Amino acid sequence: MILERVSFQNWCLDHAQRCERALERVLPSAELPPPELHKAMRYAVLNGGKRIRPLLVYAAAELSQASAPLADCAACAVELIHAYSLVHDDLPCMDNDVLRRGKPTVHVVFGEANAMLVGDALQALAFEVLTQPRQASARSEQGARAKAVAHDEVVARAEAVVHMCRALAQAAGSLGMAGGQAIDLGAVGKTMTRDQLQLMHERKTGAMLRAAVLLGGLAGRTLLPSEQESLNRYGLAIGLAFQVVDDILDVQADSTTLGKTAGKDALNDKPTYVSVLGLEQSQQFARQLCCEAHEALRPFADTAHRLHELADLIVLRKS
Ligand code: IPE
Ligand code: IPE
Ligand code: MG
Ligand code: MG
Ligand code: MG
Repeated sequence: MILERVSFQNWCLDHAQRCERALERVLPSAELPPPELHKAMRYAVLNGGKRIRPLLVYAAAELSQASAPLADCAACAVELIHAYSLVHDDLPCMDNDVLRRGKPTVHVVFGEANAMLVGDALQALAFEVLTQPRQASARSEQGARAKAVAHDEVVARAEAVVHMCRALAQAAGSLGMAGGQAIDLGAVGKTMTRDQLQLMHERKTGAMLRAAVLLGGLAGRTLLPSEQESLNRYGLAIGLAFQVVDDILDVQADSTTLGKTAGKDALNDKPTYVSVLGLEQSQQFARQLCCEAHEALRPFADTAHRLHELADLIVLRKS
């Protein structure tokens, strides 16, 4: 009997919901003191966003045959860092945005000091979650395997967690997202060469998307160096493509569709792919990156079909 494959749309819905439940479990309750901070953390993370990074984690975790608890904690950790980066990105000292995920931004509702602390706390929580796979997973998903885990498996899992922590820290730090954001702020009102623009985008956005793919890969069986390199190439291509498309949507889409203020890049005088290459060439470049991503997956054949579909989604999305 040939089993029918779950449609991509249903797979995305299932896994976004799965991540939502895991995030709900790992975030401190809003009643815990200090309630204002915990309320703001939950506001920043829950019920919003496309959850593209968790979907990348789950797709790569399928490829590496990772266990559910490790895939869940990696998906949560990546999304928590991403949510923190959005809260800080929206602050008046950065992009000064009042709308995010269709709601007023965290600093508008909870104040700037709380928004800073939300970012700090979400970043810390991401690493805590990564080291506690059971916390993110529902008891049923921890499964019977949890009963008797061989010593070798415990050691292998601990090693995987260390590698995942390192990959996430590198992606979030000064050579990744935070550094990319610094380049972005320094570029306001300036022109950039294509190479400079690419470096900025690879760091501020690409690094975290690439990390999502790598963490999903690291969560499962030990991949061959050539397989790791293929995932890395895929992650680089879709990571850059994601921000190229973000730049395009900023001029093409409206605020309601985006859930954030459209036209903000020109208003803030930011160099973007659209301002440097123009709309058509930017669209062409995004399609080229999608082909590069597909090409990188070739050695995995059908086991990478979700990653293949996610590359399409990243380039074809409308919000
Ligand atoms: C927005 O990311 C910020 C960028 C890195 C471009 P997303 O477009 O993934 O935002 P959410 O998570 O869906 O809100
Ligand atoms: C944000 O880039 C990148 C990070 C949050 C790290 P943008 O400033 O372009 O993202 P949006 O458009 O506000 O979502
Ligand atoms: Mg920004
Ligand atoms: Mg912004
Ligand atoms: Mg943007």
